[in-house]
Amino acid sequence: MTETALPLRRHLPLVSESRGAALESSPFQASWPLSRRFIKTALWCTLTLGASFGAVNLLTIHLALGPVPPAHNWVHASFQLIGFVLLFVMGVAYQAVPRSCGVPLRRLELARASFRLTFGGLLLRAYGQFGPLLPATAPSLLLGGLAILAGVIAFAAVLAATWRSAPLPRPRVGAPEIAAGTLWWIIAAVILVLEGLRAVRGGDADLGARYNESFYMAALLGGALSWIQGMVRRIEPTALAFRPPRAPLLGAAFAGSQLGAAAATIGAALPGNPVAHRLFDCGLVLTALALTVFLVGARVFERSAPRPLSSHLAPLAVRRAVRMAFASAALFAALALAYGLSDLAGDVLPTMLWDGARHALALGCITTLILSLGSHLVPRFSGAPLRRAGARDAGLVLIGLGLAGREMEVLAPLFSAPRLLWVSGASGIVAATGVALAASAILGTMRPRRPSLIAGGAGPHADGRRDT
Ligand code: HEM
Repeated sequence: MTETALPLRRHLPLVSESRGAALESSPFQASWPLSRRFIKTALWCTLTLGASFGAVNLLTIHLALGPVPPAHNWVHASFQLIGFVLLFVMGVAYQAVPRSCGVPLRRLELARASFRLTFGGLLLRAYGQFGPLLPATAPSLLLGGLAILAGVIAFAAVLAATWRSAPLPRPRVGAPEIAAGTLWWIIAAVILVLEGLRAVRGGDADLGARYNESFYMAALLGGALSWIQGMVRRIEPTALAFRPPRAPLLGAAFAGSQLGAAAATIGAALPGNPVAHRLFDCGLVLTALALTVFLVGARVFERSAPRPLSSHLAPLAVRRAVRMAFASAALFAALALAYGLSDLAGDVLPTMLWDGARHALALGCITTLILSLGSHLVPRFSGAPLRRAGARDAGLVLIGLGLAGREMEVLAPLFSAPRLLWVSGASGIVAATGVALAASAILGTMRPRRPSLIAGGAGPHADGRRDT
């Protein structure tokens, strides 16, 4: 055991290190200011050009208020995937991985550089996505992709160094999923570099968009879904009142999801011929089946009697939101399966169905998980209580309502009922308001603490239980 090593944890401990005075001397605290910067920036990304911009675009598209340039949707997607999801994952990983390995975060300077590179790269990419409207957008797209790639490689190196410094035997639960998820973020960033190269070669930034769908597949199905599988395995089942998982099913789901993500990513990247098309569809079908197996294996819908006095138990609103997130994942699986199978059979379904599937995963599952689990984890990392639990709870309900409204875009073409688009058009405002409320609860918790709170030490405030 190294000098700084702490007892090894099989699962991610959520409370013990963050109690009161112990917090101040905790070896994990050195990396908290950095994680805070990642998490704050991630939330501001979705509050600006992410969810909010998406809501304006949705209203415009579905209520036919005017044309939306494709670049608006591309910038929205960049801010959501790189700004919101990736930066949030990085910020949480820089706390969760050291805590579950029982050692402080290694290579702190490299970790700091990973923030500057990834966020700087996102800004360069977003500028590049303006295309012919502005000067030098093609090189900006390439530089942005290169910076993001360097940032994600630095992220992987920091996690690997931290994991290697853990005493033997090193924690293995969820490690393959987390390693694969990190590798997928690197693959997604390589695709961004390819976009940039194509844009520079052709002298037109818009040419880069050819690989957008492939990037979305690598980021969503590879990066985000693998990290979700890893985190669900690492967090104590008692924290979410899950029953102990069925490990063989989780193993099969992991293998299937990797194959599915690979087929969808490669299929979307290849030139648009029937083989590429079929590969993409097979990837969707495999991903849908693997996700279903995961939901059964993780037993996310099976009730287990929560242990009310357990210090690990997440508040009821968080547990409900997590189940809602997995219900959205099941909806994504059903829609992706229908889309993929019917495409394979030669019957192309409306693209709105694919948009409904994508947002069931991105908004209903990933955003809900980030904001609900984030509101549970951040107070434990920072040692301060959640400030606006009511705003978080209301926000999570609005996100659920917003998603239900958004799914009307799936029913509208199927039942030839264009008026349903009025509902889906307005749903973005509801969902974005929900995101703003839940994010404000987390942001409020990350404000610098008053000295009385720090001195207060352990108690109902410091252990976050006021929030139940
Ligand atoms: C309030 C929540 C959201 C709203 C209102 C929203 C809105 C939109 C709209 C209007 C589009 C264009 C759809 C079309 O072309 O018909 C879009 C596309 C997209 N969104 Fe969202 N979105 C939201 C959340 C998210 C989240 C959380 C993610 C990812 C984590 C995401 C990722 C994407 C992607 C990848 C696309 C495809 C972009 C393209 O066409 O190239 N969205 N979204």
